[in-house]
Amino acid sequence: MGREACGFAMNDVVLGKLERRLGRLHARQRLGIETDHEAQIFGQGLNFFHIENWYSIHAFIRLALMLAGLYWRGRRNAESIQVRYNTVRFARLPEAFDGITLLQISDLHADQSEGAMRRLAELVPALSYDLCVLTGDYRGATYGPFEPALAAIEVLCRGLHGPLYGVLGNHDTIRMVPALEDMGIRMLLNECVPISRGRETIYLAGIDDAHYYRVDNIQEAAAEIPHDAFAILLSHTPEIYRQAAHAGFDLLLSGHTHGGQICLPGSVPVTLDSVLPRAMGAGAWNYHEMAGYTSVGAGTAVVPVRINCLPEITLHHLRRQ
Ligand SMILES: [Fe+2]
Repeated sequence: MGREACGFAMNDVVLGKLERRLGRLHARQRLGIETDHEAQIFGQGLNFFHIENWYSIHAFIRLALMLAGLYWRGRRNAESIQVRYNTVRFARLPEAFDGITLLQISDLHADQSEGAMRRLAELVPALSYDLCVLTGDYRGATYGPFEPALAAIEVLCRGLHGPLYGVLGNHDTIRMVPALEDMGIRMLLNECVPISRGRETIYLAGIDDAHYYRVDNIQEAAAEIPHDAFAILLSHTPEIYRQAAHAGFDLLLSGHTHGGQICLPGSVPVTLDSVLPRAMGAGAWNYHEMAGYTSVGAGTAVVPVRINCLPEITLHHLRRQ
């Protein structure tokens, strides 16, 4: 079979799997938009300019950091993953869930963050939590092969315990979903799952990428959540904070911004690559009745360094008010 014919056969297999998993419309829409727009520098997403897709400038940024004497310190920083703790109190958290702990891991860019992935494999087995959420950006680049990223995620998953849930980021392709689910990660693609303890239930929803591919659908994700139920939303980007808050979510867990990744002294980001108030670029924040958290992420993109912005994984401790 020729290379092209082989590619078509493989695409048919993936398309069949995705249509069965997501429904015909979502699968074809996502794959079609990926084919038309992946790696586009201007336009397409929520913001106009996408530095992560401008591959020719990445080497220039690396050189500039080397000349400034910051590169190797930045490389060491990129492997210094911090475990951060975020306690949030909610009036309507059911009693049975008082004290539940969620481990959030975001923006792994696993195939381009080898040092960080090694550090994570050492860190996570010792952590205590009830469930783990992965908030997207598993792959380093925004197009091309995704198998190396999946292989690194599979190694990480061996050190994780409890139920795993995930959403896709703007660096990910929908074609990764079958493999991620085979690893035991329940991907939430404009979907929601109930989580029950005794007779009480909370809801965990997740949306497909809202930043670049714009295939998020909060209405669909929230459709089965009773209006007075406690609900958490996973979204790779926090840019949908308004829609999430007014849809009635209690907590929004996100990543995407990398906290700027390369920051000025005082952790002031040069760019967040987002349409977002700066206060929502990293850490805990609130919007109306909704609590939010933006993880600065565990990996790196564009260049493999972090300056004044150490990588993190986060333990969210949910308490009743
Ligand atoms: Fe990212």
